Amino acid sequence: MKILALIGSPRGMQGNTGRLLEEVLAGVHAEGGEVEVVSLAQAGMQPCVACDACHRTGICPLPDDYESIKEQLLGCDAFILASPNYIFSVTAQMKAFFDRCNGLIHCMALDGKYTALVETSGSGGDDEVLAYMAHVAGTLGALTVGSVGSPQAGVRTFPNEDELYGRARELGRALCAAVREKREFPEQDAFRQAFRARMQGVVGYMQEYWPFEREYWRNKG
Ligand SMILES: Cc1cc2nc3c(=O)[nH]c(=O)nc-3n(C[C@H](O)[C@H](O)[C@H](O)COP(=O)(O)O)c2cc1C
Repeated sequence: MKILALIGSPRGMQGNTGRLLEEVLAGVHAEGGEVEVVSLAQAGMQPCVACDACHRTGICPLPDDYESIKEQLLGCDAFILASPNYIFSVTAQMKAFFDRCNGLIHCMALDGKYTALVETSGSGGDDEVLAYMAHVAGTLGALTVGSVGSPQAGVRTFPNEDELYGRARELGRALCAAVREKREFPEQDAFRQAFRARMQGVVGYMQEYWPFEREYWRNKG
């Protein structure tokens, strides 16, 4: 089982988010999952330039690692998104990645994949950031298995660490179980169906300009 973890901290795995992600990955490893971690900062994720090439051709022409990360995402069984809270949202690196996923979102191309979400903050607001990440994951077509977030209590340390790390490891195990058992999350169906109709509508009225996405939905049905 292939699990791809994308971390949006400029500190990569060396920071607080990396520390919490380590515990989630311990849970994945306990279930026999094969993990690959990608630091979006190290990948030099550039901001979208709105060239629309993804909609027209399915390929982003910007010269960084986005296309290879996209292939890894399409090839994995499940993925993890991990970001610190930066001013009530994700980091610029993670947001740049989300923007670059615009073509994937229009196609809900990660339909059938599972995700788990990880966040840390200086002093709170964790649920707000996790809800945003879950929303984006849903627009990608993925099913959110769960999330874990916490304020820090120092460098790479958190309040109630034993309890937090226990939940983080459990989340990693639950992610693998969801893949293995093809778990369903009916409470996420209404959003996914509505978003699917919305994307098919957008691609429908732009079909002359966005042939890749037009063909994608024609083939997917
Ligand atoms: C630019 C910047 C913005 C931040 N904004 C917030 C914020 O709005 N709320 C908060 O609680 N913490 C905020 N923080 C603190 C980080 O979320 C926190 O230290 C986090 O654990 C850092 O994770 P990392 O070590 O993985 O990078 C901010 C930190 C930076 C550098």
